[in-house]
Amino acid sequence: MKLGVNIDHIATIREARKTFEPDPVKGALIAQESGADQITLHLREDRRHIQDEDLFRIKVNITKIPINLEMAPTEEMKRIAIDVKPNRITLVPEKREEITTEGGLDVAGNLEYIKNFVKEVKETGINVALFIDPDTNQIDASLETGADAVELHTGEYANAFGNRIIKELERLQFAAKYAKEKGLKVFAGHGLTYENVKSVAEIPEIEELNIGHSIIANSVFLGLDKAVEKMKRLILEARCK
Ligand code: PXP
Repeated sequence: MKLGVNIDHIATIREARKTFEPDPVKGALIAQESGADQITLHLREDRRHIQDEDLFRIKVNITKIPINLEMAPTEEMKRIAIDVKPNRITLVPEKREEITTEGGLDVAGNLEYIKNFVKEVKETGINVALFIDPDTNQIDASLETGADAVELHTGEYANAFGNRIIKELERLQFAAKYAKEKGLKVFAGHGLTYENVKSVAEIPEIEELNIGHSIIANSVFLGLDKAVEKMKRLILEARCK
């Protein structure tokens, strides 16, 4: 199982003061040396954390592991992606007023648009993943778009309490199996922490987790290298059982 480290919130701290530190590129280099298998970053339309220049600098400086650019399916973002050429883009829904990504992309409800978008991007050699809720209707639609992979939204699982935790986990287990059987690669992420990652990492069809906020939050106390290493160790231990 692979760990994609999302570096957005290093930039969130920097943007709190509109200064130069901490530098998300430096963070990406530390993550790369600490066991990250991928650097993930989200260039939001409102540029609240990652800036265009960060993306260009990540592309130049991160040479040992792939870059996964999360972005809304807009014309502006498509132009930037084709210019920068990350290894993969992950299409996510985006609302300016939200604190973080809420829910998966409605691929089924925007099938023709997403299908054309995926085709255009894939023609340039970039892989495409779609960030969706663990829902068979969205998986079927994702398959129709020609995307390489789905990233299952683990936010409902992460936010659940009591009996809902097991229900949300079962949804993820079912969706992961369903998507893999249809021939899609299966990734997952959102809201994962040291405390809740184990059960998701144990789902055999999921081959990659993208984790940001919890790793960056814990890096304040542990240091980024140790925070990444700890998450990597937990997901590998879960997988080895
Ligand atoms: N995967 C996707 C598609 C996301 O949009 C995000 C948040 O940017 C993450 C994973 C990481 O979520 P978190 O920061 O909650 O770990």
